[in-house]
This record gives sequence, C-alpha cells and structure tokens, in this order.
Amino acid sequence: MLITKIYQVDEVAKAANELKLGELIAFPTETVYGLGADATNEKAVKRVYQAKGRPSDNPLIVTVCDRDMVSRYTGQLSKQAIALMDAFWPGPLTLILAIKPGALPSVVTGGLQTAAFRMPQNQATLALIKQAQVPLVGPSANSSGKPSPTTAQHVFHDLEGKIAGILDDGPTKVGVESTILDLSTEIPTVLRPGAISPKQLATVLQTDVLYDNHQVKQQEVPKAPGMKYKHYAPDAQVMIVKDNSWSQALAWAKQQKDTVGIMATADILSQVDTTEATYCLGEDVVSASQKLFAGLRYFDAQPKIKYILVQEFKEEDLGAAYMNRLKKAAANTFFK
Ligand code: TXA
Ligand code: MG
Repeated sequence: MLITKIYQVDEVAKAANELKLGELIAFPTETVYGLGADATNEKAVKRVYQAKGRPSDNPLIVTVCDRDMVSRYTGQLSKQAIALMDAFWPGPLTLILAIKPGALPSVVTGGLQTAAFRMPQNQATLALIKQAQVPLVGPSANSSGKPSPTTAQHVFHDLEGKIAGILDDGPTKVGVESTILDLSTEIPTVLRPGAISPKQLATVLQTDVLYDNHQVKQQEVPKAPGMKYKHYAPDAQVMIVKDNSWSQALAWAKQQKDTVGIMATADILSQVDTTEATYCLGEDVVSASQKLFAGLRYFDAQPKIKYILVQEFKEEDLGAAYMNRLKKAAANTFFK
C-alpha cells in the first residue's frame, strides 16, 4: 500500500517530481479533480486504469498547460480549434482533435486516431503540468462507478493507498465535468454537456453544432466511449423532483420514516421539517451543479437512506449538464 500524501498548492514541485517518476497524482481543476499520470509513460497510464478500476478501452483526456503541448501531437491547429481556445481556454471545454499516427500511446487514446485535449482553469495544476514538462492523462479521480470527486477528501476516500498524492486546492467551482466537443468530424459535435453550452460554441465557431445525446447501446461503437458505461448510481433510489411536485414529494417523504434524503435549494428546504435528512444545493443551478456530486456522496455514506429526492433544473445552459449527470444517477426516475 502506498501512503497517499496531500500536497498544498505551494508544494507543486514535489508533486511534479512524483509524476516524473511515473507515480499518480490527483490534481484540482475548475470542474472536478483529475487523476494525473505522465501521458507519454505507458506504464504510468496503465496504473491509472488500475487505480480507478476503469475499463481500459475507455480513452483518457490529455491535460495540457498550453497550446504547444497540443500541437506536439496534432500538428498545426485548425482555425476552429484556435478560435475555441481563444474563447474558452483555460476553461471547462475538452476538444477532440485528430492526432499524428502513433503520437500518443494507445492506452491513452483507446486506439483512436483522435485524442481529447483539455487545459483546465487552475493555476496550481497548470504549474504542475509545466513543471512535469509532459501532458497528464486526467480522468476524474474517483473509483469507477462513484460520483466524480469535487474535493481532495473525495479523492482520498476513493483512492487512498492507490496513488502517490493529491494536490489540494479546495472544492472545485463548476462541479460537473467539462463540455466535450468533437472537432474531428465534419460538423462539430457535443459529446458531453458541460458548463460551456452548444450555443456558446456555435457562436464562436459561426457554424451549427450538433448535440449528440442519443442513448448508446453496448454493441454500438460509442462516439465518446465513456458513454456506454454504467454511470454512478447510488444504492439508494434517486428520484428527480419537478418544481410543482415538491409539496407532494415532501408529504411522501414524511411518511417514509428516516429513509429519505432531500437535496434542494435553500428556498425549498425552508419548507421541510427539521427532522428530515437534507443537503442544501445553495441558491441556484450554479451552486447546485457545484454541490450535486458531494450531496450524492453525503447520502451514499448513510446506509439507512433508501431514497434521495433531488431538485430538477431547466435543461438549458449549465442546467443541461446538471440534468445529464442527475438523470444518470437517477436512472431517469422522476418522483410521481
Ligand atoms: O472536466 C473534466 O473533463 C474532467 C477533469 C478531471 O478534467 N475529466 C473527465 O475525464 O471527466 P473522464 O475520463 O472521466 O471523461 C472523459 C471522457 C470519457 O467519456 C471518454 O470516453 C471521452 O472523454 N474521450 C476521451 N478521448 C476521446 C476521444 N478520442 N474521442 C471521443 N471521446 C473521448
Ligand atoms: Mg469520469
């Protein structure tokens, strides 16, 4: 068993050193914590799959600190890529770009001719990559099947003893993973909704953008391979509550002695009996997105909780990303 160290943001140099030695370091981003390893070191990347328990045909994001690190693998960047990087990097946008054959190990790309590139908005992590001098693979730093981690403590809970360290920069701001945009296809296609909306992308690109949210079956070759795997679903049954169902839902919860967790914004929680188990999602969709995964983890740690009622938000802009993750956790179940 490894001793998993917690590094503060002024200890980036020590963490970078571990990465150079082929060790795994979890790092903060604006979305969720990532599990870092030298993307050019095949052995180190294989250990990422092991630590997470992640299927090895699911390719990884390549996390960079600047654009030159991208063009090393892609060659000259397209006008479209540059326009998006100008507008949104560093930030919660991952770009799928064609790479030079064999430029990255196939454990990173899953054998695809493309790779997913992301420059996160976090100073400590950008410094970490710069000092390591290599891009880092960066899947979310949770055990496969758990919600993505939004604090260093979540990472520690899932990966203690399996990774060398965690660079701790407090809770992440956005809370849901980056928007993934495929630029390797004729029409740019959103493969995963995030804080940057298709509308914003289309505005910068001055072209249509497809939002490909069709259900991918196991037999199909999925566009973003991660889409075919079962996502996080807690043992408790998660139920999404529509705005106009709260009074009914709360009355129902009251009858289910001690077994219901309620996740909602402060205005809704103010109508709830103080004896109920609650988790406050803050004021709006921004704070709710930031706290969604933490709330699910909070109730998942309490075996007596058999149901979790969670507030619905309108599926537009950030709300689309929030609802995408929530629907997966709820297996699309609404309170009726
Ligand atoms: O916000 C984020 O993106 C976080 C933070 C840590 O950066 N990372 C993250 O990584 O969510 P991960 O591995 O959990 O999700 C990456 C997704 C997966 O669904 C994977 O299948 C997809 O990106 N992906 C990676 N490379 C791809 C490629 N070449 N083509 C299509 N999809 C790809
Ligand atoms: Mg993930």
